[in-house]
Amino acid sequence: TQDWLSSLDRMRFWRHALETAIASRMIGESLGRKSTEELFLAGLLHDLGLLVLEKMEPKEFARIWNEAGKEGGFVEMEYRLWETTHAEIGGYLLRQWYLPEAICQPVDQHHDGTILDKAEPDLVASQILMLGHMISKFTIAPERELNTEALLAIESLRSVLGISAGKLIDIEKELTSTTMAEADYLEMNIGSIDDLLLEANRLLFEQSIAAERLANENRRLRCKLRKQQADTESVT
Ligand SMILES: [Fe+2]
Ligand SMILES: [Fe+2]
Repeated sequence: TQDWLSSLDRMRFWRHALETAIASRMIGESLGRKSTEELFLAGLLHDLGLLVLEKMEPKEFARIWNEAGKEGGFVEMEYRLWETTHAEIGGYLLRQWYLPEAICQPVDQHHDGTILDKAEPDLVASQILMLGHMISKFTIAPERELNTEALLAIESLRSVLGISAGKLIDIEKELTSTTMAEADYLEMNIGSIDDLLLEANRLLFEQSIAAERLANENRRLRCKLRKQQADTESVT
């Protein structure tokens, strides 16, 4: 029996897992990779460490989960508190179960910011999972927001993997309906259609705000650069 209330909504947890699994498989397919089933499984299991951490440290977990609001900040808090993350714990557990490295390594690295722009064949599966997790519209924490940093990370992963911007948009467009169809097939409860559409719309809205912020920042930097150039020219 459960004598404590989990901070992790299980329906949201598995919905995000399934969506990440499907997104990772779609990205893998678009890159012509053979082992997309492993990407699917890695996606399904990628946040397993969250369940373990919460079970082990329920109080601390609830505190940082509620404080973070968004997963990026959450991972930094995990590091500060436990010197590890749910990603590493998940990877460790899956290795204990002797699952193939093609599953363990991506789970282990799915929040590792150092692999964002490294073009190495060894890191491709991890980068695919990371991108799959990031384009997932159905997040676990309802209030997790998509910030400029996340948009830049998505852009970096897209370009290091060699996926065109158009292709990624196609994948994102297909993702919601494929997730709904597959959940139906697996008889998984991922919420009503209304809920799903509401959630997808919320993310689209946040995405457009973040993109606008990014464009403004870009413009500001370009203006500054132009001004600096003009200044140096007038000096010389
Ligand atoms: Fe995660
Ligand atoms: Fe995730």
